[in-house]
Amino acid sequence: MDINAKAVIGTNSWGSKAYGKAVRGSYVEDSVIKEAMKEASEQGLVIYDLARDYGLGKAQKMFGEFAEETGGEYIISAKYTPFSRYKRGCVRKSLEKDLAEFRRSYVDIYWLHLPTDIEEHLAEIIELYNEGKIRYIGISNFNMEECLLAKNILDRAGIPLYGVQNHYSLISREWEKNGLLDWCRENGISFWGWAVLEEGLLTDPRGRKTSPMGLLMGRQIRKMHELYKVMIAVAKRHDITVAQVAQSYCATKGVVPICGCRKPEQVRQLAKAADIRLTRGEMGKLEEAADKSGAKVMGPDIFRFAVPKKRK
Ligand SMILES: NC(=O)c1ccc[n+]([C@@H]2O[C@H](COP(=O)([O-])OP(=O)(O)OC[C@H]3O[C@@H](n4cnc5c(N)ncnc54)[C@H](OP(=O)(O)O)[C@@H]3O)[C@@H](O)[C@H]2O)c1
Repeated sequence: MDINAKAVIGTNSWGSKAYGKAVRGSYVEDSVIKEAMKEASEQGLVIYDLARDYGLGKAQKMFGEFAEETGGEYIISAKYTPFSRYKRGCVRKSLEKDLAEFRRSYVDIYWLHLPTDIEEHLAEIIELYNEGKIRYIGISNFNMEECLLAKNILDRAGIPLYGVQNHYSLISREWEKNGLLDWCRENGISFWGWAVLEEGLLTDPRGRKTSPMGLLMGRQIRKMHELYKVMIAVAKRHDITVAQVAQSYCATKGVVPICGCRKPEQVRQLAKAADIRLTRGEMGKLEEAADKSGAKVMGPDIFRFAVPKKRK
């Protein structure tokens, strides 16, 4: 694979002023996001994770416009989100809209965002791959059994499965504990972790502004007091921030961290954190504190509710 994904920029936090203020807790000007994109290119971070619904439908358009303006070489990670049952042509129609928004004729990585009607959706994705509109195929929010099925379908078509994109963070390691991460490693499949900062909760609690997520998750945050202490100690030892500890934790595990970045400093921090490897002792202490906390913010399979039941 010619895609060197050491870390990926998430775009779900990009969007309108109203969305920024109401959902993300603050608004960041477009000019700052463009600066962040330029900084990211300088730092060698060129992969952007996108989806039709990110930023309430605005993130993809913003990316297309900003990519053209900033003129960088970007790698596009996009998705088809099957909220409803498969209908012939649904993926093609959606990808065509995406490409118009990206102002491009192909996407680099295309993920089936949910394990709905896997055979049918993947068959259409394979068609688009064969037409050159998709360079690599991935799956997202799939469990082990669904991953095996997807790999089997792609194997039969002679196409490698590029990656699995699931929720993973220091406090949400179920996909590692149940063997999915090892399976990916053994099969040369990339594992991308989404929300490795748990939407901002795995950042420094000292002086943190209350986010909408923070308000919802107050009880969970209180459980993380001891974990924060360990994260702060590790951060001090490496002269990095608490957020970077959460990012480096994933990188040390071989998980590609996808982080919501809207500002140049966040991009600089992510690029540095992705190169840091924590020691075995530090990893052990972080995991012990995370497990003892019992904190569960989103859970590994949070979107399962959105997968329609299989037809009998
Ligand atoms: N495949 C899927 O089903 C799926 C689902 C969800 C998300 N995703 C992907 O994962 C990405 C990440 O998720 P997310 O953006 O929701 O959450 P996230 O990356 O876990 O957290 C973003 C939050 O962390 C803050 N932040 C970012 N970098 C920081 C740093 N260096 N120091 C301190 N704080 C920092 C941001 O602050 P500001 O508010 O100041 O910007 C924002 O509040 C999404 O953008 C999307 O691409 C995929």
